[in-house]
Amino acid sequence: RAVVVTTPAEARAACDEARKRGLRVGLVPTMGALHEGHLALTRLARQKADFVVCSIFVNPTQFGPNEDFDRYPRDLEGDVTKLTEVDLVFAPSVQAMYPPGDETRVRVGALAEHLCGPHRPGHFEGVATVVTKLFGVVGPCTAVFGKKDYQQLAVLRRVVTDLFLPVDVVGHPILREPDGLAMSSRNAYLSPEERAKALSLSHGLAAAARAFEAGERRAGTLRELAYAPVAAVATSIDYVTVADADALVPFADGASVGARATLAIACRVGKTRLIDNVVLGED
Ligand code: PAJ
Repeated sequence: RAVVVTTPAEARAACDEARKRGLRVGLVPTMGALHEGHLALTRLARQKADFVVCSIFVNPTQFGPNEDFDRYPRDLEGDVTKLTEVDLVFAPSVQAMYPPGDETRVRVGALAEHLCGPHRPGHFEGVATVVTKLFGVVGPCTAVFGKKDYQQLAVLRRVVTDLFLPVDVVGHPILREPDGLAMSSRNAYLSPEERAKALSLSHGLAAAARAFEAGERRAGTLRELAYAPVAAVATSIDYVTVADADALVPFADGASVGARATLAIACRVGKTRLIDNVVLGED
């Protein structure tokens, strides 16, 4: 069973101790309510590092005022028992991560202008800030993030590059349920009927990916293949967008997509906001 610490000072001391023993420290940041997707990240971290830290922190600064911060699923005890590949669990309080007087934020640039950015003002600033804080506490050589949150991964790579942080950021493929639904802590919000409807995201993406494989390059056509099944079931759609895989700038419907493009969806099924994506030409 992993050791659990709750203060930045304890976490830093444990990581310093590991480094003193010559161990490479790896970090997997999470917000808990862990599922197989998170655990896959810890297994990859274990391959890249000798001392694996998993942080569990529902970060208030990345939630908007009308988002689900208060009702986000929390189960620290259950999470810790699942973390068999992990040496240290860092589960701080909000007070510990944002003590009185805290006021520094990591502002992110153009990568946050599209996709989820306009729909979640301040979200990526909150993510970039908390992950930078976690890097400061843990000092990892390697940090593993999932491609489920494709834009988040792109933003964090940018942060690490721009701030010269000595961390190797590793992306992990999306873990899916056997029927294709991308694993997510928020899937717990779905009723059985909503769970069935939620399959339209992965089905739409798979249809577009097949078309891309077969040679389709028109952005509008690829987009529509993903849009149609989602539009049939979603309560609302934030976006269904084909974007450059690195800069995340959307392609106009009339454009022809290049070698690598991401096709990304954000929508609500019932009240639950779901995201999914596929990298055309890569996944
Ligand atoms: P959370 O949503 O808990 O996700 C933690 C990590 O698990 C992220 O890197 C996310 O991309 C990855 N992940 C989630 N579902 C996945 C899936 N089905 N397949 C592969 N990876 C998956 O993302 C966050 O927390 C937060 O924004 C955080 C980075 C911890 C900052 O607060």
